[in-house]
Amino acid sequence: MSRKRPEDLRSFRWYGKADMRGIGHRSRTAQMGYARSDYLGKPVIAIVNTWSDINPCHAHFRQRAEEVKRGVWQAGGFPVEMPAITLSEPFQKPTTMLYRNLLAMETEELLRSYPADGAVLMGGCDKTTPALMMGAISMNLPAIFLPAGPMLRGDWRGQFLGSGSDTWKYWAEKRAGKLTDQAWEEIENGIARSYGHCMTMGTASTMTSATEALGLSLSGAASIPAADSRHARMATATGRRIVDMVWEDLKPRDILTPASFDNAITAVLALGGSTNALVHLIAQARRAGIALTLDRFDELSRRTPLLANVRPAGKYLMEDFYYAGGLRGLLASIPDLLSLGERTVSGATLGEDLAGAEIYNADVILPRERALVTSGSLAVLRGNLAPDGAVIKPAAAESQLLRHRGPAIVFENYDDMAARIDDPDLPATKDSVIVLKSAGPLGAPGMPEWGQLPIPKKLLEQGVRDMLRISDARMSGTSYGACVLHVAPESYVGGPLALVRDGDIIALDVDARSLTLEIDDAELARRKAAWVRPRPHFERGFGALYQAHITQANEGCDFDFLEGTAPTAEPEIH
Ligand code: FES
Repeated sequence: MSRKRPEDLRSFRWYGKADMRGIGHRSRTAQMGYARSDYLGKPVIAIVNTWSDINPCHAHFRQRAEEVKRGVWQAGGFPVEMPAITLSEPFQKPTTMLYRNLLAMETEELLRSYPADGAVLMGGCDKTTPALMMGAISMNLPAIFLPAGPMLRGDWRGQFLGSGSDTWKYWAEKRAGKLTDQAWEEIENGIARSYGHCMTMGTASTMTSATEALGLSLSGAASIPAADSRHARMATATGRRIVDMVWEDLKPRDILTPASFDNAITAVLALGGSTNALVHLIAQARRAGIALTLDRFDELSRRTPLLANVRPAGKYLMEDFYYAGGLRGLLASIPDLLSLGERTVSGATLGEDLAGAEIYNADVILPRERALVTSGSLAVLRGNLAPDGAVIKPAAAESQLLRHRGPAIVFENYDDMAARIDDPDLPATKDSVIVLKSAGPLGAPGMPEWGQLPIPKKLLEQGVRDMLRISDARMSGTSYGACVLHVAPESYVGGPLALVRDGDIIALDVDARSLTLEIDDAELARRKAAWVRPRPHFERGFGALYQAHITQANEGCDFDFLEGTAPTAEPEIH
């Protein structure tokens, strides 16, 4: 393998020249206390850190950045930490998804505009992972993703609690009058008890695992709990490896192929991962010039068993999953479903990376004959209600709802739903189909995780715990239920969802992959002609940029001008 020379480094344009600008860059580096021997002729490694006081999932990232730096120094590189906007799932409103592309742009432009030769990307809380990767794929410098790692299991009176999943579960119990205020407060204090991202198979665990399966993290990295000292050592190893990757000039687009995306999708399916993966992986693929569609997820779903017995689909949590062998163990158990010849950041192949991986607890990572779901854990639906596709996670739904016909109860937007869902006069029965409009990429805006629509209180009190629910929203990976999500085109742009009225019959047939509004075409056309496009949400600012360029869910919700691999010029240094 040919290796770069120091004068081939991108940073050499800043540091290596004898001109006035070169002196400026070196004198300002000296100002920070570094001698020429600290950095000259060495790969400059940008450590893009999404640490923030407002992001509990990344609370350990200041320390981890130091551990990455240790590895970079050891390997003969020059580490430069670069803070980037954090996307803190619990706190950022209306939704972190509104800002995923902002972090992607920031990542790409940080790396472009500063003297970076390679990058370590520190993320984990939901959208941070795809955002960092999207930016890094577009910039295409050598890069490794450093996953935050899952937090420890939650604890309540000796029971394990899972992020999100148990909040929804016990909130339903509280609304049904089955939980005291004191118990509820104890849950509040026990459900998140260490740094690290959600420790169910939510979007965070899904996307960090998908990134590792893509080949963009060190093997085994995604499963290590954040508070485990092995996580710190993985951070240092990441710092060491990125320096070599710069010399080898091993870049994301050398690693990403249609087959590596198949590996990532297969991993997500075998994990019972979040439906958010569809949006994010499609966006990442398009950044790499790879045409990934919803149909590929459905195809791979038909052959991939769900093996990770992790909530919300299963019983355990990410900490258990790690002790049972983690993603490495799981992937090693399905070699026939993977393309093992794909390269990874290690410089070796996925198959070589998985050498020696084993499963240590077959109740947590199940053998195929005991799969939670043998196939079809995720399904892509089409029909006159979702011409461009919609998604459901059958494994998370009550099975009698997977083939269902019922009358719609329509909410025009979230406020309408919040105001009426618990109205005792709401004409809802367990067979009703709850429909929420204006929850998509443009309508909400930001396609929030509202897709696990609440069940009307009066039905909860009757013991109903699942209903067919349909929206153009996303759903948290920690949620569950018969929720049809990502309906495209969304209602806000006049998709058929916008035309649904109370009492319309909606039919779902997961086996047939169909979602049908039982209204004839002429009536649908009449309603469409009478439909009035809502006013835009934003007159200025980032929101105006967002609404002018966001694509639909089936296209990945990227900005149209960020897709593709058209070359972008290096900055002039004058
Ligand atoms: Fe950060 Fe769930 S809140 S991953």
